[in-house]
Amino acid sequence: MDEGINAGKKAAAYKAVDDFVKDNQIIGVGSGSTIVYSIDRIAERVKNENLKLICIPTSFQARQAIIERGLTLGQLEMNPKLDIAIDGADEVDYQLNCIKGGGGCQTQEKIVDYCAEEFILVADYRKDSEHLGDSWKKGIPIEVIPMAYKPVQMKIQSKLGGKANIRMATKKAGPVVTDNGNLILDWCFEGKQNWEQVDTFLHSIPGVVETGLFIQSAKMVYFGTAEGKVYTRN
Ligand code: A5P
Repeated sequence: MDEGINAGKKAAAYKAVDDFVKDNQIIGVGSGSTIVYSIDRIAERVKNENLKLICIPTSFQARQAIIERGLTLGQLEMNPKLDIAIDGADEVDYQLNCIKGGGGCQTQEKIVDYCAEEFILVADYRKDSEHLGDSWKKGIPIEVIPMAYKPVQMKIQSKLGGKANIRMATKKAGPVVTDNGNLILDWCFEGKQNWEQVDTFLHSIPGVVETGLFIQSAKMVYFGTAEGKVYTRN
């Protein structure tokens, strides 16, 4: 089963790079396991085609992956206008709304991805859903300032229902701490939602830094199948 999932991730990740990456671009580089295949492909193409690219990371993980492959690392201060950003997703609906942040990187991902002229998603077939929440059961990741987590949690639960669980670490005692030194609440919801309204409400709560809801921001999503084939939606 893992083999099919990895085949799907790789196929989608490679195809997006082959279709969108061109010489002299400034590229936003996403986070997660699928995007690692895209970074490998970018490195391959830089080597084979002598492409001149600047890569802007969306997380500590992306930054390490860029450095390890000898790619040119950039930063938003120097390169605030990106040609493209390629990133993974936890779930994408038919309107191209998506949930991101399964790896806790949604804040920097959103900052970088939204600076790109074209934002492209890559994912395996399991992430393709008619409605958000159909397959992704871990909720909407919400980054919060540590001292605010309790009131934020209570406000979310009383207004939206469901449960906003603080994300706990698995290899240490205590919560997951983001690349920005904050905590994450995963809001597990029931039923269909108006995502624009939900996102506006979440942003209105003092202490919320950013959410993992990306509302119709991607230009296209590449899904890879278990057979290593790719289909797109835009
Ligand atoms: C990182 O926090 C996330 O937004 C990832 O991009 C997302 O969780 C997809 O990850 P995978 O490619 O590992 O499924």
